[in-house]
Amino acid sequence: MISTQIQLASYLFASILFILSLGGLSSQTSAKRGVLYGIVGMIIAILSTILGQGVSGHIYIILAIAIASVIGLSLARKVEMTSMPQLVAILHSFVGLAAVLVGFGSYLDPKTQALTGVEHSIHLVEIFIGVFIGAITFTGSVVAWGKLEGRIRSKPLIYPGRHMVNILLVLVCVVLAVLFTMASGTTGMIYLLIMTAIAFFIGVMMVMAIGGADMPVVVSMLNSYSGWAAAAAGFMLGNDLLIVTGALVGSSGAILSIIMCEAMNRSFFSVIFGGFGATPTGPAKAVDGEVTAMDHSEVADLLEAAQSVAIVPGYGMAVAKAQFPVKDMVENLQAKGKLVRFGIHPVAGRLPGHMNVLLAEANLPYDIVLEMEEINEDLEQTDLVLVIGANDIVNPGALDDENSPIYGMPVLEVWNAKDVIVMKRSMATGYAGVQNPLFFKDNTNMLYGDAKDSVSKINALLN
Ligand code: TAP
Repeated sequence: MISTQIQLASYLFASILFILSLGGLSSQTSAKRGVLYGIVGMIIAILSTILGQGVSGHIYIILAIAIASVIGLSLARKVEMTSMPQLVAILHSFVGLAAVLVGFGSYLDPKTQALTGVEHSIHLVEIFIGVFIGAITFTGSVVAWGKLEGRIRSKPLIYPGRHMVNILLVLVCVVLAVLFTMASGTTGMIYLLIMTAIAFFIGVMMVMAIGGADMPVVVSMLNSYSGWAAAAAGFMLGNDLLIVTGALVGSSGAILSIIMCEAMNRSFFSVIFGGFGATPTGPAKAVDGEVTAMDHSEVADLLEAAQSVAIVPGYGMAVAKAQFPVKDMVENLQAKGKLVRFGIHPVAGRLPGHMNVLLAEANLPYDIVLEMEEINEDLEQTDLVLVIGANDIVNPGALDDENSPIYGMPVLEVWNAKDVIVMKRSMATGYAGVQNPLFFKDNTNMLYGDAKDSVSKINALLN
């Protein structure tokens, strides 16, 4: 057992480590250190909590941690990089469910019932809000998991008057909150249960209303919600560290959501109220032109002739694990004195920073990896763009077709380069399910096949 003072000091230390961890994660060079701070902070947090005053049943706690660690470790080892968003979404749902359970447990706790006056009312409000946020996070994250996993259709489920229905449901919850705080003993349980059911419904409908291409913002938004749910659980349990940690996750998730909204040119407020996906009013623009394809040797010739090459990776590069042969290709081209750079779209792949992680995994230097805004202007002076397994993030329809579901999203304007090669297996659409007019442009050629296989074959053909 440790004293309350030592516990508070450990909580403070763990909070500082969590802040340093977030700071570290803001750049690739310090990311590993950031993760390490987070791990150490979490170990300190868990130890100082279970060794605190008044905690009993250590054997059960240790058993629960051991079982959960085995499950967590085996899941994390097995999960493919491409399935990370689903894993993150389902983990968010656990935080939401935990907040709901803590809320119910806290309400039934004799210590809560023993509170009187303002203290009692405040605690009941904490419970009500905590369960409300937790329940929305829980079902919202489960639906997000289903959509990302492809088990629930990604098309937005929108019905007329849904905003009105949502506002009415929230108003009903406010009335239930008043009745709940006024109820004596545990008779308020019925109001808590009704509100939980309503919040479960709101969570489902909120994420169901969001279309496929807008899922990146949903994942970061649910990340933020899960933080607020954890902070609410911290209030219910009177645990300062949980409040601080929850607030850190909640606010960093909110900041990430704002960054993602800017990247996709969406309004933040319509995101947090749900169902913000673009709803086209007519059919997409007809696509002109013909699709032409090249073989590996023709692409190798183009590469030999080009002085400047830009590589735009997307989700397909992650699926194919093509980052390793891509590194060999980059080294080869650089050795020939060519200018080679990467252009990274903020929502390329399925996770924020997905492409940066893959390129770092292959040990590609960070200084040739440019953000979309940094490289877009230069593309006009670029001889050749290699689009490796990317689709939506290079779709010109996002800029000029008002009826495209991704209209308004800034994209990498690769068609401005002299030549474009698109490496993918077929003419299939990307995540947003929309046709890509880039493939039909005169200066674009397709190179069909698995990206890793294609890049390796080109490498073999380069002198
Ligand atoms: P996508 O638009 O999803 O396109 C990926 C392309 O890769 C597909 O068209 C596919 O075409 C190709 N591909 C798949 N496997 C391949 C392989 N083994 N070899 C070669 N090509 C392969 O990807 P993107 O351009 O990166 O855009 C990301 C999309 O995901 C956006 O719509 C974004 O909103 C959404 N999203 C992003 C996130 C985050 S946070 N980044 C989260 C959720 C959703 P083939 O089948 O013809 O090969």
